[in-house]
Amino acid sequence: MRTMSVVGVMQFALAASGAQSDVQNATTFAYTYGYPFYAYGQAVRGSPNATTNSLIHQRDLANASETWVVRPNADTLYTRAFLDLSTFDLEITVPEFDNRYWIWPFYDAYGNNVANIGSVGSNEAGTYLVRYSTEGYGVETTELGSPYQAYITLPTPYGISLTRILPESSDDLDAVHELQDQLCITQVSTNQTRSIPILDLDIFNDSYYIQSSNVSLEEAVLRLTAEFASWNLPIIPGDEAWVSCLLEQAGISNGVFTQKIGTNLTAASASANASASALLGDSDYVHDLGGNWTAKDASIIGLYDSQYVARYQISTVGYLALVPEQAVYPSYRYGKSNNITSQEALLLTFSEKPKINPGGFWSLTAYDGNGYLIDNPLDRYALGDRSNLTFANGSSLRDGDGMFQILVQPGNLEPPTNWTNNWLPAPENGGIVSLNLRL
Ligand SMILES: *[C@@H]1O[C@H](CO)[C@@H](O)[C@H](O)[C@H]1NC(C)=O
Ligand SMILES: *[C@@H]1O[C@H](CO)[C@@H](O)[C@H](O)[C@H]1NC(C)=O
Ligand SMILES: *[C@@H]1O[C@H](CO)[C@@H](O)[C@H](O)[C@H]1NC(C)=O
Ligand SMILES: *[C@@H]1O[C@H](CO)[C@@H](O)[C@H](O)[C@H]1NC(C)=O
Ligand SMILES: *[C@@H]1O[C@H](CO)[C@@H](O)[C@H](O)[C@H]1NC(C)=O
Ligand SMILES: *[C@@H]1O[C@H](CO)[C@@H](O)[C@H](O)[C@H]1NC(C)=O
Ligand SMILES: *[C@@H]1O[C@H](CO)[C@@H](O)[C@H](O)[C@H]1NC(C)=O
Ligand SMILES: *[C@@H]1O[C@H](CO)[C@@H](O)[C@H](O)[C@H]1NC(C)=O
Ligand SMILES: *[C@@H]1O[C@H](CO)[C@@H](O)[C@H](O)[C@H]1NC(C)=O
Ligand SMILES: *[C@@H]1O[C@H](CO)[C@@H](O)[C@H](O)[C@H]1NC(C)=O
Ligand SMILES: *[C@@H]1O[C@H](CO)[C@@H](O)[C@H](O)[C@H]1NC(C)=O
Ligand SMILES: *[C@@H]1O[C@H](CO)[C@@H](O)[C@H](O)[C@H]1NC(C)=O
Repeated sequence: MRTMSVVGVMQFALAASGAQSDVQNATTFAYTYGYPFYAYGQAVRGSPNATTNSLIHQRDLANASETWVVRPNADTLYTRAFLDLSTFDLEITVPEFDNRYWIWPFYDAYGNNVANIGSVGSNEAGTYLVRYSTEGYGVETTELGSPYQAYITLPTPYGISLTRILPESSDDLDAVHELQDQLCITQVSTNQTRSIPILDLDIFNDSYYIQSSNVSLEEAVLRLTAEFASWNLPIIPGDEAWVSCLLEQAGISNGVFTQKIGTNLTAASASANASASALLGDSDYVHDLGGNWTAKDASIIGLYDSQYVARYQISTVGYLALVPEQAVYPSYRYGKSNNITSQEALLLTFSEKPKINPGGFWSLTAYDGNGYLIDNPLDRYALGDRSNLTFANGSSLRDGDGMFQILVQPGNLEPPTNWTNNWLPAPENGGIVSLNLRL
């Protein structure tokens, strides 16, 4: 009898600790799942006076002061819009573009790049209807005689769009501004009554939802998740039930997050980060291109389906990345973290010019350890097809092809003058320089 009761106690203890790590795991999942709402909030806070369903134009190419999003490009001008399809459909107007690169991408509330119109897809000028539906997403051609070029359907009522338009040179910005000014969003009635609240952007500016000395990042993320997840369902319908179950286990119910006893939020984010690092080390998902270059598999960038760890990872380092059909972003890895000293440089050798489709572009961009562009005396943040790169003999890349080199060297360590055109400044006195190509 005594022995049996001891066994009974042990089983109980095992069950209890099992239940607890289930809850801890659910908390890790909820943080991983909901983090994109935090990235969305950072974008809102970086957009003073933003209102939903209206366009915010960035009129200059990004520089080191651009911190509303991580890893901004320094190639295109951005126009962003915080989309609320809860009560309205949106008519968007696309102007007549010349042969330049442009894209008007749409993201769901979690940063999934669910639909794109642009030069890659040869989309035409005209009016498009943007709407929310739980029955599929993407770009759908319209029937003959429709007033719309196409329907653009998002799987969540809240979303974001981030138009990119390429200037051919710094003299071409005015032409891009004119194109930006012709973009338009108009709210139209949906004829559907839904019980979804309108998107209140002020929530993102409420200290209750922002990391501070009083609120941990994890709490802020989980509170936002509680606020928004029930209206913004997973893109994969089969995930709805188990996601909602895990969120509830993590303490999210009726729009409120209450931390479960015995859980450790720091450990939850540490565990999420460990999973993200493990993913980046997995050669099934991160392909080795040789020469220290890697590229993410299509399944873990842009459109994530059930890859919630990947979605989390990109939200922290490259929120609003595009799907590979639109752009690829190979990255360069030097040592463990691309950390160079004040006396070091990276010399990148290209066997030839990166191949691009007509109207496409390529560039190499340098970011600091936070994913922001690096302040430097040349005001140069990227080098690529629109730059004045030269071959070793001094002739311009515009006039030929073949091997060339780009020197990534601290901004305060000026190279010999024949290198100036091919010099991409790294942080002054060294530090982390995180490089990626964009094609
Ligand atoms: C919690 O997650 C870890 C890592 O994914 C896993 O090894 C462990 O079995 C999980 N625990 C439970 C109780 O599900
Ligand atoms: C956020 O609130 C601060 C004051 O608390 C205000 O200065 C700022 O404009 C607000 N930002 C947005 C995006 O509403
Ligand atoms: C935001 O609105 C405030 C108050 O109307 C105004 O003072 C401020 O200049 C605006 N900021 C921007 C960036 O438009
Ligand atoms: C960076 O861009 C901002 C906004 O476009 C501009 O006000 C600022 O002068 C720029 N800084 C540098 C160093 O070019
Ligand atoms: C909404 O209803 C109006 C009037 O009944 C109709 O003209 C319009 O086509 C409808 N719109 C949609 C998107 O169904
Ligand atoms: C943190 O809370 C204290 C006390 O309530 C308050 O005075 C302070 O302003 C808060 N700080 C932030 C960053 O919200
Ligand atoms: C929570 O987890 C963190 C990171 O794993 C750890 O450093 C900390 O000691 C834990 N806190 C408690 C109260 O156990
Ligand atoms: C996990 O990563 C996030 C995003 O990079 C970071 O802000 C957070 O501090 C990390 N968590 C831990 C416990 O290190
Ligand atoms: C790859 O990185 C290592 C350091 O991590 C460096 O020694 C090596 O030269 C690099 N190779 C290329 C081709 O960049
Ligand atoms: C980069 O390396 C230097 C030593 O060369 C070190 O002092 C510094 O902390 C490192 N920076 C990061 C962010 O790891
Ligand atoms: C390229 O060089 C020419 C002549 O030195 C200069 O006028 C032009 O501004 C440069 N263009 C870029 C993109 O640096
Ligand atoms: C600069 O000149 C040196 C010495 O002639 C040469 O080795 C190097 O390749 C040149 N660099 C470029 C970018 O032209």
